[in-house]
Amino acid sequence: MIVDSFGRRFRNLRVSLTAACNYACTYCVPNGKRLQAAEYELPTEELVRAVSLLVDAAGIEKLRITGGEPLLSPKFDALLPAVMQMPLNDVSLTTNGQLIQRKADVLLNSGLKRINVSLDTLDPVRFKAIARGGDLETVLDGINLLHSAGLKIKINMVPMRTQNADQIKPMLAYCLEHGFELRFIELMNMGHLRQGNQYQQDFFGMEEILEIIGEDYEFTRTDAPYDSTAVRYEIPDQGNFGIIANETEPFCSSCTRLRLSSNGYLYGCLSNATCHDIKPILELDHHQAMVQLQSLLVKTLADKQDLSFQGEVTVMKFIGG
Ligand code: 5AD
Repeated sequence: MIVDSFGRRFRNLRVSLTAACNYACTYCVPNGKRLQAAEYELPTEELVRAVSLLVDAAGIEKLRITGGEPLLSPKFDALLPAVMQMPLNDVSLTTNGQLIQRKADVLLNSGLKRINVSLDTLDPVRFKAIARGGDLETVLDGINLLHSAGLKIKINMVPMRTQNADQIKPMLAYCLEHGFELRFIELMNMGHLRQGNQYQQDFFGMEEILEIIGEDYEFTRTDAPYDSTAVRYEIPDQGNFGIIANETEPFCSSCTRLRLSSNGYLYGCLSNATCHDIKPILELDHHQAMVQLQSLLVKTLADKQDLSFQGEVTVMKFIGG
């Protein structure tokens, strides 16, 4: 087992299927940069082998399929059933929800038990302004479809002062009503947000989020697992919500996440652009591959920040949310 001086090890793998996305959210894509040349992506078989080797070599217990938008990738249909066969405690998926209905058979036949949907507003006009793609109604229908089939739903919302802070209450009411867990993600200073003042203008932190919720609800903070990124709250008799407080309560010192990008690089940290090519390892036999992967994982673990998120040129779209 590879462990660092903070006692951190990789338990959690996030696999990005593609950097392509049918949205161009304001926090992820700079204005006018919507269309980009397609990058090389690991083909399905290599991707499945890479994941399987990583699960083995790093002792991965939890896996999340992400992107870009993972449901856009033709590899999704084969990857999901393949990872469901791997010895993992938990498999989940982060999606913007736009293609849930189209992929309903694959999703429902796989045995997947939970899903996270990124949704920043319930206002259709604002939705277009933030996501710059897709359609709100389609997302809500997709969520309902999976919920009716018994999947657990979490909703990710990135509150931004000038774009959707007034949606905090309606989003929470919607989630409580339907039994979904809402996760507020504090805006991270990544990619193009590091230039100009959009980040400073739009950052809307945990304290302010709680203040707004406190106007209408009583809540108590509950215990969260050691390596959970979210601070969790309970609203008695109504449900739970969480805040991923990257800035307010950084969780780097207990982070167990490892990322595999769609073009075959390992990232040890969202806040570090250093990455390690896994492709040469995929050409080796199993034993050699495991040996090489161990030393690559030692380097990747050393890329983690000690204490707090520093911000980076990296964007979720490329290294996976
Ligand atoms: N800050 C906070 N959250 C972000 N996401 C993407 N970019 C950022 C950012 N700069 C969110 C997406 C998705 C999740 C995986 O990360 O909305 O829900």
